[in-house]
Amino acid sequence: MSLTHTIALDALQAAIRQVVTGFGSAPDEVKAVADNLIEANLTGHDSHGIGMLPRYAAAFLEGGLKPNTHVKTVVDAGALLRLDGDAGFGQVIGAEAMHIGIARARQLGCCIMALGNSHHLGRIGAWAEMAVAQGLVSLHFVNVISRAIVAPYGGADARFGTNPFTAGVPLPGREPLILDFATSVIAQGKTRVAHNKGESVPPGSLIDDTGQDTVNPRYSVIEPFGAILAFGAHKGYGMAVLCELLGGALAAGMAVHDGDSSKKRVLNGMLTVIIDPARLADPAVYAQEALAFVDWVKASPPRAGFESVRLAGEPERESRARRVVQGVPVDGTTWAEILDAAGKLGVDPMAVQRAAGLV
Ligand SMILES: NC(=O)c1ccc[n+]([C@@H]2O[C@H](COP(=O)([O-])OP(=O)(O)OC[C@H]3O[C@@H](n4cnc5c(N)ncnc54)[C@H](O)[C@@H]3O)[C@@H](O)[C@H]2O)c1
Repeated sequence: MSLTHTIALDALQAAIRQVVTGFGSAPDEVKAVADNLIEANLTGHDSHGIGMLPRYAAAFLEGGLKPNTHVKTVVDAGALLRLDGDAGFGQVIGAEAMHIGIARARQLGCCIMALGNSHHLGRIGAWAEMAVAQGLVSLHFVNVISRAIVAPYGGADARFGTNPFTAGVPLPGREPLILDFATSVIAQGKTRVAHNKGESVPPGSLIDDTGQDTVNPRYSVIEPFGAILAFGAHKGYGMAVLCELLGGALAAGMAVHDGDSSKKRVLNGMLTVIIDPARLADPAVYAQEALAFVDWVKASPPRAGFESVRLAGEPERESRARRVVQGVPVDGTTWAEILDAAGKLGVDPMAVQRAAGLV
């Protein structure tokens, strides 16, 4: 198991921004990409944080990720929007798309936004948080165009990606519900993190290249590949298929249907539904019913092994509060991969080390 560095937030921001300059990004993009990735680490989702940079670098170097690209509107039909990301950084494309969708939902009460061809959109919860910050509900169905890594229910090999589903629901006067998960038992990035740390993955999350159960994360990281299982048996598998049909075939015009693992780029398709609850329901009734329900649920006595009943979004806020103060843990293997990627992008790895306070 490799050494874990704990890096103070401001030092990590300085170091990661240096790495991102290697993509040739304009200053706003450098900040958007670095801050979005670090935010994923802060919320506890290291799988979608700075550890993605080596993959982004590989995608960029083979021409599959295009820095300094902005979202384009392909179809504008009132509450229906179709946007294209042209393989630009998802951290920029996702934010620009959400700004457009939020403005439209404010104007019309709702917006259904199809986004295709964005490079990796990272932690999808970040996009739901933009909507709930404006008092809006948002739902996101996402597919992943990359090497297939998740097996269908009953299948022995991988046929699609970890297809996340995300929802943000404002709770008046309270912190919002942010439900944000991969439809696989564990996110692929979590198998990479486990592999880098020399740890096992939980039983029941992975099969090997012969379709047998395994706890060895290598089967998701290096060849010969096995597959991650969908969460919740046939039900989670059904949601994964829904994300591929809605986020992929419908929103992006691009779904997974071959075993091509030759490309490093990761494209996301995303169908987003944004609703202004104040235009749909009596705000006072919604507030009263939503808060009464949440209070009722959280009053359930915790059973053995649990401290309390929590709502989706709480673990991320707790992690963020802790890591902003204590710093962000980064395992040594991931950090070494980031320095290596910096070098490949023409950024001096020693300068990155110094900025992180590690020399
Ligand atoms: N861009 C992509 O291609 C892609 C693909 C897959 C996943 N992702 C992202 O990966 C991230 C991690 O996904 P994951 O599946 O590993 O997440 P996860 O299994 O950690 O589940 C996270 C969700 O469960 C909630 N949760 C956790 N513990 C809880 C508890 N005790 N009580 C109530 N709710 C609780 C969290 O608040 C959150 O909504 C997500 O942000 C997702 O968007 C992105």
